[in-house]
Amino acid sequence: MSLLASVPDFPEPGVLFRDLTPVLADAHGFRAVIDELGDAFAGRFDAVAGVEARGFMLASAVAYRAGVGVIAVRKAGKLPGRVITEHYSLEYGEAALEVEPDHIAGGQRVLILDDVLATGGSVAATTTLLQRAGCTVTGAGVVLELNGFGGRTRLAELDLHAIVTL
Ligand code: PRP
Ligand code: HPA
Repeated sequence: MSLLASVPDFPEPGVLFRDLTPVLADAHGFRAVIDELGDAFAGRFDAVAGVEARGFMLASAVAYRAGVGVIAVRKAGKLPGRVITEHYSLEYGEAALEVEPDHIAGGQRVLILDDVLATGGSVAATTTLLQRAGCTVTGAGVVLELNGFGGRTRLAELDLHAIVTL
């Protein structure tokens, strides 16, 4: 994880922002991350959901590798069709995530992927959205779990795989 960047006071004063962009930009780092996340849930998902924005990169690659489809879980206001919405709190503010249930096949087992887990708000909101769309959530995979924000406790019901914990 020497490629992990830590940026003080981003996106606001007092936050030490962990940036995984350099890991994903490195060919070996990207492959290792995708392989581990895919292998951790192998054979247990029919689709992969990526949480905007860095989750998209992970979900696309893991889905392609497994031969399944990818679901984009978007920040509010980005999707053109009928949406369902979940509001949640982040380490640094409030946000809302949305999906288009008419474009998601019900009954699928869906794996959720994101770059970082902090409070677990994003993964919890995504879990609720997918369940409201009629899916079963297999679990969630993240590259980096930040201890101290209560994410793992909040997601106690979920099979959670973190490659690195800080
Ligand atoms: C970050 C990160 C996760 C989320 C983790 O995204 O990429 O999605 O926060 O925090 P949580 O566990 O407390 O929900 P952010 O919402 O900053 O959006 P971005 O990917 O568009 O930068
Ligand atoms: N990096 C990326 N996403 C985050 C962070 C972070 O440090 N904290 C909460 N979400």
